[in-house]
This record gives sequence, structure tokens and C-alpha cells, in this order.
Amino acid sequence: MAAKTQPSSSSLLLMSLLLLLVSLIFPSSVLSATLRSDIQALESIIRSIDPSSISPSSYLSTWDFSEDPCEGSGTFLGVMCSFPLENTTSRVTEIDLDDDGYDGFLSDEVGNLTELTVLSLNKNRFRGPIPETVFQLKKLTKLSLSENFFTGDITPGITWLKELKTIDLSKNSIAGEIPPRISSLRSLTHLILSNNHLDGRIPPLNGLWKLQALELGNNHLSGTLPKLPPSLRTLSLCYNSLAGRISPLHRLKHLVSLDVSQNRFSGTIGHQILTFPEISHINVSFNQFISIEVVQVTGIESRLRILDAEGNQLQGHLPLNLPTYGNLKDINLRSNKFSGDIPRIYGKRLENNSWRSLYLENNYLTGLLPEEFLRLSKQVRGSLSNNCLHCPKNVPICKGVQKAKSHCTNAMREKGLE
Ligand SMILES: *[C@@H]1O[C@H](CO)[C@@H](O)[C@H](O)[C@H]1NC(C)=O
Ligand SMILES: *[C@@H]1O[C@H](CO)[C@@H](O)[C@H](O)[C@H]1NC(C)=O
Ligand SMILES: *[C@@H]1O[C@H](CO)[C@@H](O)[C@H](O)[C@H]1NC(C)=O
Ligand SMILES: *[C@@H]1O[C@H](CO)[C@@H](O)[C@H](O)[C@H]1NC(C)=O
Repeated sequence: MAAKTQPSSSSLLLMSLLLLLVSLIFPSSVLSATLRSDIQALESIIRSIDPSSISPSSYLSTWDFSEDPCEGSGTFLGVMCSFPLENTTSRVTEIDLDDDGYDGFLSDEVGNLTELTVLSLNKNRFRGPIPETVFQLKKLTKLSLSENFFTGDITPGITWLKELKTIDLSKNSIAGEIPPRISSLRSLTHLILSNNHLDGRIPPLNGLWKLQALELGNNHLSGTLPKLPPSLRTLSLCYNSLAGRISPLHRLKHLVSLDVSQNRFSGTIGHQILTFPEISHINVSFNQFISIEVVQVTGIESRLRILDAEGNQLQGHLPLNLPTYGNLKDINLRSNKFSGDIPRIYGKRLENNSWRSLYLENNYLTGLLPEEFLRLSKQVRGSLSNNCLHCPKNVPICKGVQKAKSHCTNAMREKGLE
């Protein structure tokens, strides 16, 4: 009887040998699935955040270190782990936090999470410089820290992160220059640095041959346009102090959306730009352009929907070929120096209901309106005020005053004398 309940010493030995063997094959199994220093890094990250900014429904409130971060499913929200086959130690591979208003600093120990591929902390209240240790995260493909209060410069260390596809540091208080060597990050597809305090020139970025989106708007960038990669689909440079010609853009044949508004660009808006096969939005407003080349696009399916060229020095007649852009909906040529009549063909566009808005106010236009404007101007938003047009008061688009005729003839005459 006793022999059945009491294991013999030899079977005890066998069992402990088996256990030893198991623990040799699967070291530190069950007890801790996650690499110790990864757990410590996560602890340090949460310690650097003001606890009163962590709401009960937030991701961070689920980080309970009495459990293993990578064990079980969904215990640590915002954390993803790897489960390496040859190694029972899990590693943290992604941190993708919610926007809960976490208030604090990003701990230096984030640099210990060396398997991290994604670090995304958007829309919180992180402040201070981006820790230099972030640049030890060699496997990072996405660094997304937008809408926080990060300060300091973008240090050259960022160029160590060769796997990066996305950098989004928009809407912070980051200053200094864009490091020129950023163009060595050959995997980059998205470089989003808008709404910061960046200054200096934009370095040549044509080495970034996979770059699809470049957003540098709302900074203090100056100088002329650098070389840019032809792979770009979205380019936004608005609200800077950039100057010179925009001809370097003529090579960007894949552009879908272009915004160079609120700069000091001058010269001509070339026909290349308006006829890019996929271009849909063009915003060149508030610069010093003097002409826009609108070539006929009959036969080609133009995707251009929005053309905003407000607040330039565009002169001469309104572009006759604009109605050939079959998908054009919104046109803003307000506050330029256009003169002469409104082309009759613009009336045809109103007739078949294809233009949604047409802003031509504050130019030097003269003469009668195309007759369709009188009949159909209810269905188009826009304004023709502050020209020298014969614009009947009962026509909605004629709301507002016109200049005295002499204003427009004088303007024409001055132009003639130039
Ligand atoms: C395997 O675990 C060791 C520590 O136990 C760690 O240093 C190493 O990075 C892990 N390997 C992988 C591929 O995660
Ligand atoms: C973690 O990071 C800190 C700060 O960067 C460093 O001092 C420490 O040695 C690291 N610990 C491990 C285990 O790598
Ligand atoms: C073009 O840019 C100006 C200035 O940045 C902005 O106010 C305007 O809304 C933009 N136009 C369109 C159509 O988005
Ligand atoms: C609208 O009018 C333009 C110009 O007359 C014409 O080329 C186009 O085919 C018309 N579109 C439709 C949908 O009727």
C-alpha cells in the first residue's frame, strides 16, 4: 500500500532528471515569457508618465506587472510581442498607445526594447526631447510621435534606423534643421514633419526613392526647392518661407496632391504640374506666381478636382483651357491680376453642372457675364465681386460690389506699359 502512494527514491530521481531536462530545453518557461529587460523597460515607460493622466479606460491602465506582458492575450493593451520558435523568451515588438492624454517623458529605457519595430505614441502629452536611445532601436520601421509636446532637434542618430518606413513627428515643438543624412534612410515611404519649428533649407531628398508622402508644412523652412524623389504622391510644403521656382516639381509625375501654399514661390506654374496623370489637388495659393500654364487636356483623362491659386500675381486672360479638365470641381483664382472677359466656355461648364465652386473675385475682369451665369449661378458657389464686371445684383454669384471701370482699364494699361 505504502509503495503506491510513496514514490520510490529511484522514480524521484527519474522525475527530477526529467524536470532538469525540460528546464534545459525550455529555459525560464512559464515563469517569465518575456525577456526581463523588456519588462523592465515597459515598467520604466509607465513610471515616467504622470499616473493621474492615465484614465481607467486607457491602454496603460491594463499594464499590470503581476502578469507577464506577452503571456495571454490582450492583457497589456498597446503592446505586441514576438514568440520566437527557437527561444521561449518573448520580445516586445510593438508599442502602439491610444490617445489618452498621457502626460510625461519618454523613458530612456525604451532603447532596451531592441526588437521593437513600431513605436507609436500619437496624440498624447509627451514632452522633452526624443531620447537618443530610441536610435538604438535598429529594427524600427515606424516611429510615430505626432501631436505631443516633444522638443529638441532631430539628431543625426535617426539615420541609424535603416529599416524606418514611416517617420511622423508632426505637431510637436521640434526645432533645428532636417538632418541632411536623412536621405540615407532608403526604406522611407512617409516623412511627416509638419507643424513644428524646423528651420534652414530642405536637404536634397532624391535618394529616398521609395518616398510617397513628404509633409513639411507649417515650419520655418527657407531657401529653394531641393531635388525630390519622383516616387512622391503627396507633397505638402505650405506655410514656410520657401522661394524660387517650382520647376523641380516637374519630375514628380506620380503626384496626387500638391500643396505649396503660403510661401514665396515665384515664376510660372508649369503645364507639367496640371497634367500629371494622377494629380487631383493643387494648392499654389498665396505665393508670387505670375503665370499658370493651362494646356488643353482633351483626350486625356485628367483627375484634377481642385485648383487653388488664390493670392498670387497671375495676369492676362483667365485660362481658356480650364473647362477641358473634365473632373475639375473647385476653382479658386481669387485675388490675382486677371483681366479681360470671363470666357464664354466657362458658362458651358456651369450648364452641365460640373463646377461646384468658382471664385474669381478681386481681379480686373471686365465685360458681361456668359449668359449661363445669369441663369444657373445658383448651383455654383463662388464670387465675382471686386472686379469691373457688369454683374446684375439679382444674380447670387454677383453679391458684393464691383470696382470702378477705370481701375481695370488702368491696370490693363499699366500692364501694357511694362
Ligand atoms: C533569446 O533569448 C535571449 C535571452 O534569453 C535574448 O538575448 C535573445 O535576444 C533572444 N532571441 C530572440 C530572437 O529574441
Ligand atoms: C536599459 O537602459 C538603460 C538606460 O538606457 C541602461 O542604463 C541599462 O543598462 C539598460 N538595461 C539593460 C538590461 O539593457
Ligand atoms: C489652400 O491653401 C490655403 C493656405 O494654406 C488654405 O487656406 C486653403 O484652404 C487651401 N485650399 C484648399 C482647396 O484646400
Ligand atoms: C460638359 O460640358 C463640357 C464643355 O462643353 C463638355 O466637354 C463635357 O462633355 C460636358 N460634360 C457632360 C457630363 O455633359
